[in-house]
Formats: sequence, C-alpha cells, structure tokens
Amino acid sequence: MSYALSTQLDEELLQDVINLSVGLFAPLDGFMGPEDFRSVVDRCLLADGQVFSLPITLPVDRAVYDAVRTGDRVGLTYQGREVAELTAGGTFQMTDDDLEQVFRTRSLSHPGVKKEKERSPFRLGGQVRLLDQSLLENALTPAHTKAIFQEKGWKTVVGFQTRNPIHCAHEHLQRVGLEICDGLFINPITGWKKPGDFTQEAVMAGYHRMIEEFYPKDRVYLAGLRTQMRYAGPREAVFHAIIRRNLGCTHFIIGRDHAGVKGFYGPYDAHALAREFREKHDLGIQLLLLREPYYCNKCGMVVSDSSCAHYETDRVEISGTIIRACLNDGTIPDRRLMRPEIFEAIRACKQIFIAEGETEK
Ligand code: ADX
Repeated sequence: MSYALSTQLDEELLQDVINLSVGLFAPLDGFMGPEDFRSVVDRCLLADGQVFSLPITLPVDRAVYDAVRTGDRVGLTYQGREVAELTAGGTFQMTDDDLEQVFRTRSLSHPGVKKEKERSPFRLGGQVRLLDQSLLENALTPAHTKAIFQEKGWKTVVGFQTRNPIHCAHEHLQRVGLEICDGLFINPITGWKKPGDFTQEAVMAGYHRMIEEFYPKDRVYLAGLRTQMRYAGPREAVFHAIIRRNLGCTHFIIGRDHAGVKGFYGPYDAHALAREFREKHDLGIQLLLLREPYYCNKCGMVVSDSSCAHYETDRVEISGTIIRACLNDGTIPDRRLMRPEIFEAIRACKQIFIAEGETEK
C-alpha cells in the first residue's frame, strides 16, 4: 500500500514503533498527541491521569506537519520500506521550555537534550500499527518475559535497569532484590547510548560471567532492553519502572542517580520523584528505593548508610570512574569495587567503550 503522506524513521524511532507495538510502553499504543504530550511534560501523567513520565514522540518534517489532518493514515518507512502505519492523532511542537521541564536543563552538554535538539521540533501523534511482522523476531515483549517468569514459577520478580557492567554496588542492590523476590530480571539497555558509555558486549560479558560463577542461575534472568537511553534521571527512573511493570516485574530497583549523567541530577532526585508518584498513584509495581552501597572498612563489607554508621569515616566509594580508569590502563581494580572475574571478562571484549561518533555498539 502506498500512502499520500509518509515519514521516515531512523533506527531509534523504528525501535520506538516496535516497542509501542508490543506493549512495552503501555498504556501507550502510539506516539503521543498534543494532549498527552502536554500533560506528561507538565504533570508526568497522561491526559487520562495514568502515570507516564517521559514523552514518546515522533519528529516529522515541516511539510508533513503542515499537510497532515487528524485521522489520516501516514506511512512510516525505514530505509525506503513501509514498516508501519500511523493514524494521525494531532500535531504539536516541542519547545526548549518543554525540554527543560523534562530534562531539568537546556544545556546541550546533556546528551538527552542534545539529541532532542537535533531532531525536528515538529511532532506527530497517533496510534501505530506494525506492518512488517519480521521486525518482531528478536523483540523483547511482555508476552515473552511474562511466560518465562511463569514457567520459572516466580510470583515476584525484581527488575534491574542498567547501562554498565556489574560492579560491587550493583551486586549489592541485586542481592537485596534477590532476598525479597523469587527472581531477578537483569535488563540492561542494549539500545543507543552515548560515546564513552560501555558497549553492550562489555555489559553482557560481565553479566554472563556473574551468572555463570556467582548467582543462583535458576533465580536470575538476563535479557537486553532495546531502547535509547534518554539520561533523564528522575523521570527516566519512573519510565524504566513502567517498562518493567509491563514486562511482568512486581518490583523495581532505583538506586543512586538512576539514569543520571554528568551531575545533572542529585543522587536521590529519582527517589524523591518516585516517592511522590507512588504516594498518589497506583504504579502497578513496587519501587525499591535503595541507597548507595559502599565498602565499609570498619564493618568489613558492602553496606549502605541505611545500615552502617561509618559513611563519613570508613567508606570506600564504589566508583565507576575508578573502574573505567583501570579498564583503560589495565590495572586490576580494588576487589572491593569490582570482582576480578568480571574485570577479566570485560577486558576480553573486542570493544569496551562506545567511541566518539558511535551511538550503538
Ligand atoms: S543507569 O543509567 O542505568 O541508571 P547504572 O547502570 O550505573 O546506570 O545503574 C543501574 C542501577 O544501579 C540504577 O538503579 C542506579 O541508581 C544504581 N546504581 C548504580 N551505581 C550505584 C551506586 N554506586 N550506588 C547506588 N546505586 C547505584
């Protein structure tokens, strides 16, 4: 079928279409129209009052924006192929004020702001329908994960979001989750990140080793989540929880500076937003708001200031920056920060960091 109006998707937008189609972003079944967009930006709620904290929008050319009318069928193409159809629900523009509300900054050194600024400000909302079912072949779908959790007999499942290889702070948070729930779903982002972030190869290599050597295999499930990192801190933490709820998790971990970048957010800003929303709304998932794990020299173990009195005096910070420096120069990091087995698994990867000019690896 050919459409009077059509718009091209890049790979990230194509993935949004796939994720919308399989229900990963439920209750959304399409790109946001003007009412949902306004409401999400202003209140972190869809127009009907359900919690949704990040805009999911489709940038289009000015020509499409001007020509489209509500109810039009618009072809969505990828690399010249029609892959999906959108039923137009309304148009709007994304402004710098909107970006500031979402990201709490207008700075172009924020990777999420930068990406949005590089896109057309003209946005088109509407329900999407995938035409090319072959795109679902390797998709992570709620139907798939829910079936797996059921098969494993897990009544409670804690979801863990990450974009990094596992270090001892992550491990502590995951073990807390395993103490509470029947299963742990480790769900690293395997979509688009920024240069300098770890490649998915490195993240997955660390986790495979961790599960192989340390975790009870029957209580952990590892699968990548293909979507872009938006680096939107608190709002993205709530968005991440919604996705994991849709995938069948009953619990979700939010630690220190979740989805944060370069000090744009306070360490517990995400906790504050999450608390506010869980008090007023039923999110459909329990949030485990966990404080920063560190190694305490006095206690002799990884703890947090919830259970240890020596944060100021005996804390060895589990710092991602130190681990990165070790990976760059090959020195084995302090055992209190990262297990040597994990370090070794990462070091053996072809490419550890996403290079300048790359967005996905
Ligand atoms: S994120 O961008 O996906 O949030 P990361 O992979 O570092 O980055 O974090 C995964 C999860 O672990 C998040 O919930 C985050 O808050 C938490 N986390 C990461 N490092 C720490 C740390 N040192 N202390 C506490 N929580 C942490």
